[in-house]
Parts: sequence; structure tokens; C-alpha cells
Amino acid sequence: MTKVIVVGAGFMGSLHARTVHDSRLAELAAVVDRDEAVAAAAGAALGVPAYTETERALAETGADVAIVATPDSVHRPAAEAAIAAGAAVLVEKPLATTVADAEAVVALAAERGVRLMTGHITRFYPRYVQVAETVHSGRLGRPVLVTTSTWGQRSLGERVAATTNPLWHFAIHDIELIQWLTGGVVADVDGAQLMESASGVASFTATGTVTSGAAFHLATGWTLPDSAGPRWDLKVHCERGMVQAAWSSDGVTSFGADSAEELDCLSWPTVHGRIEGALRLEVEHFLTAVADGTPFLVPPAAAVDAVRSAALLEKASTVRRLP
Ligand SMILES: NC(=O)c1ccc[n+]([C@@H]2O[C@H](COP(=O)([O-])OP(=O)(O)OC[C@H]3O[C@@H](n4cnc5c(N)ncnc54)[C@H](O)[C@@H]3O)[C@@H](O)[C@H]2O)c1
Repeated sequence: MTKVIVVGAGFMGSLHARTVHDSRLAELAAVVDRDEAVAAAAGAALGVPAYTETERALAETGADVAIVATPDSVHRPAAEAAIAAGAAVLVEKPLATTVADAEAVVALAAERGVRLMTGHITRFYPRYVQVAETVHSGRLGRPVLVTTSTWGQRSLGERVAATTNPLWHFAIHDIELIQWLTGGVVADVDGAQLMESASGVASFTATGTVTSGAAFHLATGWTLPDSAGPRWDLKVHCERGMVQAAWSSDGVTSFGADSAEELDCLSWPTVHGRIEGALRLEVEHFLTAVADGTPFLVPPAAAVDAVRSAALLEKASTVRRLP
């Protein structure tokens, strides 16, 4: 049975750990977090050993696979430790927050013959796959303009704002999606803005073109209250038609006396005690492709292209702050 460790046991790492723990395709061997209390709590929750050092966890468990869910800017050291130990790696998005780091991780994996996939989860939402298949079939003609509007909760921003921003944390989803759909990478940036505010609301907006000639406009950030589920809206305007995918909570809302809460049915819902949704599809695709030696649905080059495009957008950005 494939042995998996999860490095970074915060919000996303805990979800990955539970997904592996519940999977019939692999065994969760350990969790790792540099914060001893976080590691211990995650290990105790799933009944597996907890470590604070990745190298030690890899050596003592003999892991075949590492899932890296550390903050955006520190994926490289954990990924490189796993690759050096010969473990296949699923790295959370973005692969890295610099082009140099992204290229170095992919180069090391290639040199050591280790499988590496980045968790661009948008490729595992059936609704986006339907959009992609429609666009790629060519029946609507070539894409002319792609617009995305992707919003998460302010509390998410509070959790990650010390280590990342809406460009690297959120727009990387939109960028990879635009590139997957159009088959191009960001060529020109006509305008880009990172907006932060003392209230905790932050956003990233950008407009430009990709190498296939299509224009894009993306708007993303953390602006919503916790009671609201995320809001994603995608439109691909083509020469002979348009295809769109929109989602929020997929229609499930719990109404209390004074409040309402939108419940997740798409990303990582717990269904009959197991994590399902796009996250299970992503993790089990990765485990199956590693076991079978078949190609990943997110090629390493696509993840590097997304980082390269995000870096271009970052360079072109105006940064504004509302006190
Ligand atoms: N695919 C998605 O939709 C999605 C959603 C949320 C987060 N993410 C990604 O998951 C990653 C983690 O995000 P999060 O929201 O879980 O953040 P988080 O802050 O909740 O968790 C990060 C954890 O990593 C630990 N950590 C930091 N440096 C470490 C190191 N060097 N070694 C081991 N542990 C270390 C921290 O102590 C923390 O517990 C990010 O890259 C983020 O972009 C992806």
C-alpha cells in the first residue's frame, strides 16, 4: 500500500490528510507541521505519528508520496526534501511564488525521476471539465475573452495574509484556468491591481491577453463573510458562442434564527463520513497516476507556466492600500 505523508497540517493539509486517511488507494503514514502543537493535534485526530521535520518523517515512515500543504512561499524546501527522498510529490498551488523556485523543483524532480504534480484543483471540478471540453471541441470557435470572478472569505485572508496575497493564493487558480482553457500563457498585461485594506478585505484584478490572442479579465480576493460559501464565476466568450460555469454553495443553505450558512457540496464536502468533491478527485487521480505511471491531468509545465504568468502580473501590478 502506498504510504503518504502530509507536510503542513493547517487548513488544507488537514483536509488532504483526511482525504488520504479515508482512501482505499493509500495509507496515511504521518503528518508534519513545523508547529509542534498543530502537528500533534492533526496526528491525534487521525491516529498517525506527528513530526515537526519533513526529512525525519520521510526517513522514518519510508513514505512513497508526500503532499505539500505549507504556505505558498515555502513549498520548495518541503518538495525538494521529498524529491531527494524519492517520494512522489503533490504540491499545493501555487507550485512556488517565484519562477526560479518553480523551475528548480521541476528540474530536481526530472533529474531524480520523481513524479510531481501541482494541486490545481480547478481541473477536478466536473463543471470546469465540461467547460474545457466544450471549448477544446472547437464547436464555439476560438476563445475571444475569458472572464473570471472568484471570491473567498475574509477569514481566509486573516489566516494566510502574513505569507501570501490574493494574486498568489487565489488568482493563480484563475490564471491556470485561463491558460488551460485558451491553450496560451499570459502575453501582455494591460493593467493589474493588488488592493488591500485595513478591514482585511483584499483583492487582485487584472486584464490582458494570452499568447493565443484571447483577452482575459480576472477579479479575485477575500471579501466575504464566513456564512457565505465562495463565489466563482467563469465565462468563456468564443467566436460563435459562450460557455459559462458559476457556483457558490451549489444551492445548499442552512437557515438559523438569525443567520444563514452556505454549505460546501463541491470542493471537499464530507459525504457519509468521507471527504468527497474536487479534492478527492484530485488526490485519487494523483495516487492512481503515480501507481500506474500514467500522465497527470496537471502537467508540471502547466504549473510552471502559471507561476511565470503570475510573476508577470505581479511585476505589472499597482499596489494600493485603503487605511
Ligand atoms: N486547492 C485549494 O483550493 C486550496 C485551498 C486552501 C489552501 N490551499 C493551499 O494550501 C497551502 C496551505 O494553505 P492553508 O490555508 O492550509 O494554510 P495554513 O496556514 O492553514 O497551514 C499551513 C501550515 O503549514 C505549517 N508550516 C509552515 N511552514 C512549514 C514548514 N516549513 N514545514 C512544515 N510545516 C510548515 C504551518 O505551521 C501551518 O500549520 C497553500 O499553498 C494554499 O495556497 C489550496
